[in-house]
Amino acid sequence: MAPSCFLLLSLLFLSSSASGVLQHPEEGFISVTISDKGLDFAKDILIDQAIASILLSELPQIEKNVQVPLVGKAKVVLSEITINDIQVNSSSVNTGETGIALVVAGATANLSFKWRYSASSWLVPIGISDSGTATAKVNDLQVGLTVNLTNQEGTLKLLLLDSGCHVRDLSIKLHGGAAWLYQVLVDAFAGNIASAVEEAISEKINEGISILDVLLQSLPKTIPLDETAALNVSFVDNPVVSDSAIELEINGLFTGRNEVLAPRGYHRGSHISVSRRDRSPQMITISLHENVFKSGSLVYFTADTMQWTVDELPDQDLLNTAEWRFLIPQLYKKYPNDDMNLNIYLSSPPDIQVTNKDVGVKISIDIIINVLETGEVIPVACISVDFSASCAAEIIGNNLAGWLKLRKFSAYLKWSKIGKLHMNLIQSVTSAVLKTVLVPYLNTQLMRGIPLPILNDFALENARILYAPPWITVCSDVSFFGDHYLKQLPAYVS
Ligand SMILES: *[C@@H]1O[C@H](CO)[C@@H](O)[C@H](O)[C@H]1NC(C)=O
Ligand SMILES: *[C@@H]1O[C@H](CO)[C@@H](O)[C@H](O)[C@H]1NC(C)=O
Ligand SMILES: *[C@@H]1O[C@H](CO)[C@@H](O)[C@H](O)[C@H]1NC(C)=O
Ligand SMILES: *[C@@H]1O[C@H](CO)[C@@H](O)[C@H](O)[C@H]1NC(C)=O
Repeated sequence: MAPSCFLLLSLLFLSSSASGVLQHPEEGFISVTISDKGLDFAKDILIDQAIASILLSELPQIEKNVQVPLVGKAKVVLSEITINDIQVNSSSVNTGETGIALVVAGATANLSFKWRYSASSWLVPIGISDSGTATAKVNDLQVGLTVNLTNQEGTLKLLLLDSGCHVRDLSIKLHGGAAWLYQVLVDAFAGNIASAVEEAISEKINEGISILDVLLQSLPKTIPLDETAALNVSFVDNPVVSDSAIELEINGLFTGRNEVLAPRGYHRGSHISVSRRDRSPQMITISLHENVFKSGSLVYFTADTMQWTVDELPDQDLLNTAEWRFLIPQLYKKYPNDDMNLNIYLSSPPDIQVTNKDVGVKISIDIIINVLETGEVIPVACISVDFSASCAAEIIGNNLAGWLKLRKFSAYLKWSKIGKLHMNLIQSVTSAVLKTVLVPYLNTQLMRGIPLPILNDFALENARILYAPPWITVCSDVSFFGDHYLKQLPAYVS
């Protein structure tokens, strides 16, 4: 089955105001809205990832010559300065005029480092030296950054607009060493340690944003579904921010694997108002326009994949002329005791419509009855069938799947070389074909589903489906199970 991949980390970012400026004539048939709850969730994951990348990174060593009363001139070196732990007390994400802002306030961090010094003076010409370890604690660390997310030829481009990191309070604890050394560290080194921490974190933020940008750029523009079709998951227009929610639009239509152009001619019925009116308490809302399903129907129809030969039925006797000896004497007379098979063709792309309780499907097929005589396939009659079915959408994994139930059908004889067929016969052949062949077959296909645009490593949780014609809306929370997501990326440098 198609890899269901994609977005959610993207959620964090983008610009609000500018979206109206560059309106493409294109439209998206899948819309993804990330609520403030979703943004919060993404923010926490990003902060966790950022902390994981900062921890255990070693800061550059710091050395200085200082003049110490009574001791003389001392060369002090701090090395192996390492951030061991960071705890974030509060953080927030806000969408605004210029982009998305993420703020971490009042974080604390633990550092450890090694110190050594050598000192000499005219009093003690031989010189003294010592070494040991120390820890430092950052009690108030503030980090902020603003990013912009724009659509660049169908993929998302993430830009770091601004970032800042500020250490407001740093205390040092010396293990061993002299009292003067402690004073030197506090007076002459604390500022440098704080700057080193600020620089290291700022660098990690730059790195992290580049990694995310690479991740977003590497999202596929199409997801292959099978040998026939692919789903166009190119982004359409710039993301739109409203009320601390972000809305992303995706083309969402099926395309033939070998086709260059998408099926054209779909018009957006009405704008998505569902997600806004009915504020979902869940993290993300994914709306699919019925045109998504219609495009799928057209692609599979055009590729001639919707035709089947049936040579087995539960009641196998039906596929022998002997069974019809009395009902269709002409058939038995012409082809006594011959096996038969059926060809089923769709006569037009299935019509699909989202209603307020299901997805209504209308399908027209031709059933051609063949007699198999000495290796020859001889068509003898054709039954035309129009049937309607109701498809209930359901979520399987990260896919939107469906389950078709036959509602009603009407059948009539289109042509015949074996005389008029009795209505009962037409009905029973049709019923057998629909119930034992076609509907079960379609259901195995439908159960594979359409991959919803969710990044790998994220899974839908507690998804609900709402019908809001012409849209189907999936409201869901997501869970993250890729602990070291960013680390796996090739661009990651620790
Ligand atoms: C952490 O947050 C709590 C309230 O949520 C506050 O009382 C406390 O002072 C904060 N600690 C720091 C270090 O900012
Ligand atoms: C730092 O160390 C202290 C004690 O050594 C510990 O209580 C605290 O949880 C550590 N982490 C942070 C982030 O302060
Ligand atoms: C943010 O992105 C928009 C496009 O959505 C762009 O027009 C705007 O200039 C960007 N803002 C900044 C400050 O770069
Ligand atoms: C996919 O969608 C994008 C955006 O609507 C469109 O520009 C592109 O032509 C489509 N690609 C295919 C193969 O249909």
